[in-house]
Amino acid sequence: MTDVAGKTAFITGGASGLGFATACALAAKGASVILADVDAERVEEAAATLRSEGAIALGLQLDVTSEDGWAAAGKAAREFGPVRILFSNAGVGGGSGPFELYDTDVWRWNYAVNAHAHLYACRTFLGDMKASGEPGHLIFTSSMVAIVPPPISVAYISSKYATLGIAMALRNELAGTSVDISVLMPGMSATRIVETTRDLRPVDVEVGQAATTSQAMQSVLAGGMAPDKVGARVVQAIEAGEYWIFTHPEWKAMAELVTADMLGAFGPSADPAYKGDDIDGLIAANGGRMFGAKK
Ligand SMILES: NC(=O)c1ccc[n+]([C@@H]2O[C@H](COP(=O)([O-])OP(=O)(O)OC[C@H]3O[C@@H](n4cnc5c(N)ncnc54)[C@H](O)[C@@H]3O)[C@@H](O)[C@H]2O)c1
Repeated sequence: MTDVAGKTAFITGGASGLGFATACALAAKGASVILADVDAERVEEAAATLRSEGAIALGLQLDVTSEDGWAAAGKAAREFGPVRILFSNAGVGGGSGPFELYDTDVWRWNYAVNAHAHLYACRTFLGDMKASGEPGHLIFTSSMVAIVPPPISVAYISSKYATLGIAMALRNELAGTSVDISVLMPGMSATRIVETTRDLRPVDVEVGQAATTSQAMQSVLAGGMAPDKVGARVVQAIEAGEYWIFTHPEWKAMAELVTADMLGAFGPSADPAYKGDDIDGLIAANGGRMFGAKK
């Protein structure tokens, strides 16, 4: 998509942080935006702010984990305009502390919001986007922690790996269609995510390591990148058709270490007599496309 002007975008987690910042950047370039968020009051305020600045904006209350909610949001969105940019971005933090002590409700909630909701988003809009034959763009928000995992929240980190995995698989699936795809891999950004997580998490009280980590993360993230810079970068990537959106290059050195660790672990075949997988044949069987990479 070379130009977002005149397109309609649907953004989950659109009331705050990276979602709202991207909505502002899209609106500034002439796109119409639908902000969808579980926080009804904040999403209406966010949409009203954009409208007061001259944008065409709609605020919708949507819990991205609710299939019924998606059905209603899809209907309202279609009445507003044909969605051509879908930003599946809503996310919450997870628990922390030893994995064997995780609260199972927190675990399920984290996956529901951060990973499973991407399917609902795509079931609601991606079919129409492809069928239109018009340029479209799908963006998922993963995180740098899905490449360089810090020793915090297994739920959060693994749900962000799931998001990256969904994007990697869809990158192959969407090749050759009119819909481009990006995966946003932010580092630290000064958003409300710690507060949002505290407000929404399905257990009332954070205790022990979870409470300590949450407090520490709040002050670390406060010093993070301004969300509007990330939002502008997302729009640039949509217009340039870039798949990877890396906003924080200071993580590259650690990404290289992680990747080198993995590549360095490749050794001889487990079966020295085996001829080796027919990678070219596999690529040919899958439409001649490389897996998860440009040719
Ligand atoms: N802030 C960072 O440092 C950072 C870094 C990497 C990735 N991310 C990712 O960026 C995305 C946006 O988060 P943010 O940092 O802007 O936080 P944020 O809390 O400012 O915004 C997230 C929004 O998602 C909404 N939300 C939460 N649960 C929802 C649900 N069930 N249904 C609909 N909306 C829901 C919240 O109400 C909130 O408005 C998340 O996926 C997050 O994991 C953030």
